[in-house]
Amino acid sequence: MDEVIKGHAARVRAVDPLVGGHDDLRERGEEPLRARDAVGVASVDRIDPGSLRASWSPLTVHRLEARVAGPDPEAALGGLVDRWIGALRSGDPEQALVVPWPSRDTAPVRALAVRGFAPIAVSAVRRLRKRSVRASAIRRATLADLEVVTWLYERLVAFDAQFGWVTVRASTSARIRELLVGEALPLEWCWVAEVEGEVAGVVIVSPPERSRWIARSVNARPVAYLGVLYVEPSVRGQGVGTALTEIAQSHAAAHGVHSMVLHHALPNPFSAPFWARRGYRPLITQWVRHLPQTTG
Ligand SMILES: CC(C)(COP(=O)(O)OP(=O)(O)OC[C@H]1O[C@@H](n2cnc3c(N)ncnc32)[C@H](O)[C@@H]1OP(=O)(O)O)[C@@H](O)C(=O)NCCC(=O)NCCS
Repeated sequence: MDEVIKGHAARVRAVDPLVGGHDDLRERGEEPLRARDAVGVASVDRIDPGSLRASWSPLTVHRLEARVAGPDPEAALGGLVDRWIGALRSGDPEQALVVPWPSRDTAPVRALAVRGFAPIAVSAVRRLRKRSVRASAIRRATLADLEVVTWLYERLVAFDAQFGWVTVRASTSARIRELLVGEALPLEWCWVAEVEGEVAGVVIVSPPERSRWIARSVNARPVAYLGVLYVEPSVRGQGVGTALTEIAQSHAAAHGVHSMVLHHALPNPFSAPFWARRGYRPLITQWVRHLPQTTG
């Protein structure tokens, strides 16, 4: 098997064993496109304007089925997409570009965001299975938790940076620490979750007096703002995030809060379903477009 496809399959399997069809790359008569650490098959679908499919799709859909590997999957995918777009010819009506990607394989997707691709639809799956719960303890965080909360907060920023809007800067760590020492730990509602004696998750909520900047966007006040929720990958899927959210919500409700507000990245495959299941629904959508990077 092609080394690129093998590397791609291993990475995808590691992040989501439920994704199928990524152990190979089906060619459709066309020569595969190649770039450094990347291989893909491009196809074009010209849809009959009178068909029902035309109601569900643009009329000309260029599709890239890509496999990327190596130390920098984002650069690999970017190189392949540039080669693909450079070879497209115009002239067809209603042209759209589609790159399907396994939702939880987040490492390469910034390459799509910075080239103007926006996530528009997903196929979704739910596994039906029984799961055991590992004991976890939730407690209020204090300044004694500064180091671990700073670290978890930094991990959240780095995680969100994968989606092309948030960026880890040289100053990130220092600014987080300042915020925690000066404001969040003494003034806000902050809990940590311990799993087997180790702090593995954090939630931080700004009470209504510190959430005025966003309260105007909600017609059911008082409003609290959930600014941080992060759970370490090794303990995800065991109810830790849910427990942190529930304690924050019930504490806020006991203090008279009517609405909890938060932001999450739509392409984040963890937060979008998580918040939907917790009963959160979209309030304001931020539509964004990245302008092409100029080089040289
Ligand atoms: C979003 C995030 C905080 C969720 O934390 P988590 O601890 O994995 O959340 P939970 O375990 O409570 O819920 C996740 C899944 O476990 C399930 N679950 C919840 N309680 C459970 C329990 N007691 N037993 C078994 N499964 C449970 C949930 O229903 C959900 O189910 P799923 O397979 O059907 O998806 C975590 O994925 C994370 O930190 N992601 C990266 C950062 C991020 O996205 N933060 C949010 C920013 S807005």
